[in-house]
Amino acid sequence: MTYNITTFGCQMNISDSERIASVMNEMGLKNADQNKADFLIFNLCSVRQTAVDRVWGMLRKTKDKTVILTGCILPKDKKKFNEKKYLILDIKDLTNWPQKIQKNKKISIKKPKDYFSILPNYTSKFSACVPIMTGCNNFCTYCAVPFTRGREYSRPAKEILCEVNKLIVQGVKEIILLGQNVNSYDGRQKTKKINFVQLLKKIDKIPGNYWLSFLTSHPKDMSDELINCFAECKHLVPYLHLPLQSGSNKILKMMNRKYTVAHYEKLIKKIRKNNFVNPHLTISTDIISGFPNETKKDFLATIKAMEKIKFDMAYLAAYSARPHTAASKLKDNISKQEKEQRKNILNEILKKTTLKNNQKMLGQETEVLIDTIKDNALIFGKTKNFKRIKINGSTKDNSKKLMGNFVKVKITKANVWNLEGEII
Ligand code: SAH
Ligand code: SF4
Ligand code: F3S
Repeated sequence: MTYNITTFGCQMNISDSERIASVMNEMGLKNADQNKADFLIFNLCSVRQTAVDRVWGMLRKTKDKTVILTGCILPKDKKKFNEKKYLILDIKDLTNWPQKIQKNKKISIKKPKDYFSILPNYTSKFSACVPIMTGCNNFCTYCAVPFTRGREYSRPAKEILCEVNKLIVQGVKEIILLGQNVNSYDGRQKTKKINFVQLLKKIDKIPGNYWLSFLTSHPKDMSDELINCFAECKHLVPYLHLPLQSGSNKILKMMNRKYTVAHYEKLIKKIRKNNFVNPHLTISTDIISGFPNETKKDFLATIKAMEKIKFDMAYLAAYSARPHTAASKLKDNISKQEKEQRKNILNEILKKTTLKNNQKMLGQETEVLIDTIKDNALIFGKTKNFKRIKINGSTKDNSKKLMGNFVKVKITKANVWNLEGEII
């Protein structure tokens, strides 16, 4: 018997799929192409309606197969999938999947109590995502996550440290800590509470040659202690993803984000004050365009904020009303066309700031982790501050050896979305 996993959504889902694959393998199933596999697993994202629609489209072509739906599914969609008799399995219940999938078969699988402690089938040998928490208590009014992943759950610090330790011993070069809102991590060691900063510092103490980063932070919970970590932690890379969502205080309030643009800008100032020069500390963000009642003036405020902050990357999304959320009760009164147009305008600003920021790196010598080799000759990687980079002038012979390793590179060209450089 064979299986295939299709993953939608964010890194959290990609990471969960590594654990799903591990359980499938333990059940004796083999991975196969989508058109050949007996079990088709769809790991869903519900942040925008488009992803859900895509799943429905794909499901139409799955006759004669056993379909399993999991991941972030809204209760309303769950009902619809149920009516079509699709098997829906909760990701948090992953340890019980074997019993649910192969009802009559006796399976002796080791059953850890929470699905995070299942050893994942890591997709990369040198870069690993490690979930530290899941769920969210923030209820931003547009967001589906609290309704799909439920309330916050933090993984015990001991388990996280154990997983990270093992990865580093195995020679993994990059550890990315994951959670919907890592700042509110609340782990426990015996009776002692341990917060995110303490966890980060503990991980950072693990000796080895590796990069450490984390996703995603909430501006309302970004403490000075966490900001100081960028200067204090040896392995922490100069990269921060900090979703702004809107540059208008009125819209931020309607989104229930609990911070102002001024607060956000103050944070950025503090973070950048750490004097990162080579390479500079990069900041990426998420912005939603066309939230209900976003006027031209509100949008102008977002334009201003983007011009001022000068992001290195921004994930721009047109607002999509999600069932169950508070914002879905408001009239979705910005047309699709207008949302797209606003997104395009923001993208033009982004292109300018990314190019300018990239140009700052011209001539710098910096560390790069090689992560992609195409046709045995085209070599790509990322810099310590998470910029994509194409390596020029390298020979065919050593390309294989470079994969998954750090190299020193001189930046020779700055483009809008990436850099180019030569190994020195
Ligand atoms: N926990 C993270 C990520 C949440 S979802 C956070 O707090 O930022 C990832 C991004 O999707 C969000 O930051 C937001 O920009 C976008 N998003 C979420 N809901 C959306 C919606 N209803 N319409 C459009 N974009 C949305
Ligand atoms: Fe969604 Fe807000 Fe929670 Fe992020 S912090 S997952 S945007 S509710
Ligand atoms: Fe989507 Fe779930 Fe991530 S809704 S963005 S896959 S947390």
